[in-house]
Amino acid sequence: MSTDQLKIQAATAALEYIKKFDYKIDLGVGTGSTVNELIALLPSVRHHIDAVVSSSEESTKRLEALEFNVKELNQTGDLTLYIDGADECDGHNRLIKGGGGALTREKIIAASSRQFICIVDQTKMVDVLGKFPLPVEVIPMARSYVARQMVKLGGQPIYRDGFVTDNDNQIIDVHNLKILDPVKLESKINQIPGVITNGLFALRKADLTLVAQKSGEIIKQ
Ligand code: A5P
Repeated sequence: MSTDQLKIQAATAALEYIKKFDYKIDLGVGTGSTVNELIALLPSVRHHIDAVVSSSEESTKRLEALEFNVKELNQTGDLTLYIDGADECDGHNRLIKGGGGALTREKIIAASSRQFICIVDQTKMVDVLGKFPLPVEVIPMARSYVARQMVKLGGQPIYRDGFVTDNDNQIIDVHNLKILDPVKLESKINQIPGVITNGLFALRKADLTLVAQKSGEIIKQ
């Protein structure tokens, strides 16, 4: 089974969790190629959805093209359910996100959602987070300062050259971190002046991860 097919499989499995509600929900929708498959499937469960809140301009464009009612988070209050992909997931549903650069809006939506379901394929599962470079969104003037602090934490920061986030900030990708205590590291990086968000989702991790397997099975953890 190709990676694309695995993404479709994970996205399809997530639809069941939208269908469970017997009222129309406010749904948080993430960003990335796995979520793009979810968005393409969402019209089939349209009658379960009142409004959607999107984590990026890219997802908003796709949702609006399918005529979903895309609202600002400030208009909805807490969301019933948030579905998003991840770049890495460990055995405790702690994640690295932000490969697509949407980490800040994703973290806000995760925080304000009653349930967070992560959809991944088996290639994203790891024992210890950190093989995927950790994205850190920074205020542009703080970029070099934050990069130096990342070196002190044992990482190798690389500026994502030419990339500007939806919030007009920049991203540093921090390589070679072996993240044994994700909660602690997430909090520590959050304290550095100039950091907007880091891509560790451990303080607010996923409640459930649906992992598409090459065998065709979906593992729920
Ligand atoms: C977007 O910024 C990310 O957090 C995505 O959720 C993550 O990169 C997963 O993307 P793919 O589904 O494209 O691998």
